[in-house]
Amino acid sequence: MKAAYYERQGKASDVLKLGDFPVPQPGPGEVRIRIHTSGVNPSDIKARTGFSSAPMFPKVIPHQDGAGVIDAVGPGVTPTRIGERVWLFEAQYRRPFGTAADYAVVPASQAVLLPDHVAFEVGACVGIPALTAHRCLFADGEINGNAILVQGGAGAVGTAAILLAKWAGAWVAATVSTPEQEDAARRAGADLVINRRADDVAAIVKSETAQRGVDRIVEVSLRDNLDVDMRCLANGGVISSYAVETAADEVSVPLLKAMIEGSTFRFVYIYTVPASAKAAAVSAISRCLADGAYVPTIGMRVALDAIVEAHEAQETSRVIGKIIVKPSP
Ligand SMILES: NC(=O)c1ccc[n+]([C@@H]2O[C@H](COP(=O)([O-])OP(=O)(O)OC[C@H]3O[C@@H](n4cnc5c(N)ncnc54)[C@H](OP(=O)(O)O)[C@@H]3O)[C@@H](O)[C@H]2O)c1
Repeated sequence: MKAAYYERQGKASDVLKLGDFPVPQPGPGEVRIRIHTSGVNPSDIKARTGFSSAPMFPKVIPHQDGAGVIDAVGPGVTPTRIGERVWLFEAQYRRPFGTAADYAVVPASQAVLLPDHVAFEVGACVGIPALTAHRCLFADGEINGNAILVQGGAGAVGTAAILLAKWAGAWVAATVSTPEQEDAARRAGADLVINRRADDVAAIVKSETAQRGVDRIVEVSLRDNLDVDMRCLANGGVISSYAVETAADEVSVPLLKAMIEGSTFRFVYIYTVPASAKAAAVSAISRCLADGAYVPTIGMRVALDAIVEAHEAQETSRVIGKIIVKPSP
């Protein structure tokens, strides 16, 4: 099969290559997927550049997320799954070979039925962003009727958070930094979109929530936004922080205010979310997909042999929306 791979960490143009690999065989409890679309995430860039760890394998096929059709199953998996359209997640977590290839093999539970009416391109955008957004939103209970603030509402996780929160019946405010991002956040369904560079986010959120504030904040940069978040958060509210700028990032919490307000700080790292919570997320996301309510923005599509371009676009954040890569037609 054709695949993109790297043998050392470094710049995309220096280390990413294309090559031929044997078609992988599914082991016990695994399925093999003929990949239709592979989704790029910042996590793939961080793995390739050594953001927080050295490589675990001598040869890596990148990308955690993707979508395609199951074409083989290993021992212990029902053969009725062959032919199933699926989205897959964590394909390259603690494994060397991800979805930037004609085929990928994952544990059967990581290949999830994709409804017939949902395109593979959408399926490839689900994994990391939707699972992360779900954990941030729902780890502290249902959100129907709640007010939510999504900081960075045009990002992949931010958009997923808007989509899932709207689907679940919440009122959603989102911050953006450009008119193009504002369009993306509105398309996802945000009720209120605020330009965080031009406007007073906290004043607007408080005014739009009758001074009560929001119940949950899905936070892409706690380091930058803690002060604004504390001003936006309702009594008993939760801030879910899922990203850092550097591996050494730290924040200083205003303890007395947080105590008086009964605030909860939640930290989310998708790979270590408990299995039961991840299974609940997969189930909820599947219902959202089936309802036709998971419609991410796709900002860039490239063929597998242009994977360097896709990685460079992801790391410079110049594309609004998900970046997807198509293996061989
Ligand atoms: N913990 C986890 O499990 C987990 C899971 C997924 C992603 N992540 C991390 O989360 C980050 C975002 O991932 P992504 O896939 O959503 O990336 P993305 O699609 O590139 O989106 C990032 C968004 O964040 C916005 N942003 C940046 N700084 C901001 C700030 N100070 N306030 C508000 N918005 C801000 C950006 O807008 P501007 O153009 O305005 O900067 C952009 O819209 C990455 O660092 C990624 O590694 C972590």
